[in-house]
Amino acid sequence: MSDTARQTGLIVALDTQDPAQAKAWAHAVEGVAGVIKLGMEFAYAAGFQAVADVAGQRPLFLDLKLHDIPNTVGAAVKALSHLRPRMLTLHAVGGAEMMKAARKACDEAFPEGERPLLLAVTVLTSMDNHALAEVGVPDDTRTQVLRLADLAMKSGMDGLICSAHELKALREALGDKPVLVTPGIRPAGAAKGDQKRVMTPAEARAAGADWIVVGRPITQAADPAAAAAAIAAELAA
Ligand code: C5P
Repeated sequence: MSDTARQTGLIVALDTQDPAQAKAWAHAVEGVAGVIKLGMEFAYAAGFQAVADVAGQRPLFLDLKLHDIPNTVGAAVKALSHLRPRMLTLHAVGGAEMMKAARKACDEAFPEGERPLLLAVTVLTSMDNHALAEVGVPDDTRTQVLRLADLAMKSGMDGLICSAHELKALREALGDKPVLVTPGIRPAGAAKGDQKRVMTPAEARAAGADWIVVGRPITQAADPAAAAAAIAAELAA
């Protein structure tokens, strides 16, 4: 697919512990964000009923980064199926059997055509080569990202969570098939916060992202609806 033909969607990360706040943000970006993301912080603080309440009928990216033995991950996927997530994350470092168990559980627990996209996290962007060495990985982060990405795709995953700076290498190595979802996006001129290596929405689209994940530049904006609309317009330009 050529860069210009690629459609890149907007996922808004609702990072809060407060259900009322999450609902207000979800409402503000209605019709602009294709998907809303709720993660560990919200689910652990507010509970899964609140996850269901905030999501309502909206497409939900459930970012729980599952990582356990295959049997437990499979059971967890089934236990989450009532939330009907559109996307679900797990750690590729859990291994091929764990990922295959997640895929099997999805295939069994969801009706045909409603299975969530299973997205694998490779190397957390908070880890550098030194941190990898500390956990026994002698290779550099790029090599380890590509290794785990390949394993994930061979284990039935639909795509990958990746930094903007990994997009090109992953597209070169794996082609168009993986759904690539990329956080760490900042519109030109926005505050970077704790994100160090960022790209603009248009740059991420050009580099091969299918979806970008944006949190604070939208949720902390004076007008979240306008901020989301501006990003969506940049993606569509
Ligand atoms: O507020 P911000 O746009 O930085 O939020 C990005 C979202 O993506 C957050 O929910 C964050 O947890 C997530 N994320 C990230 N960087 C990664 C992986 C996930 O920012 N490497």
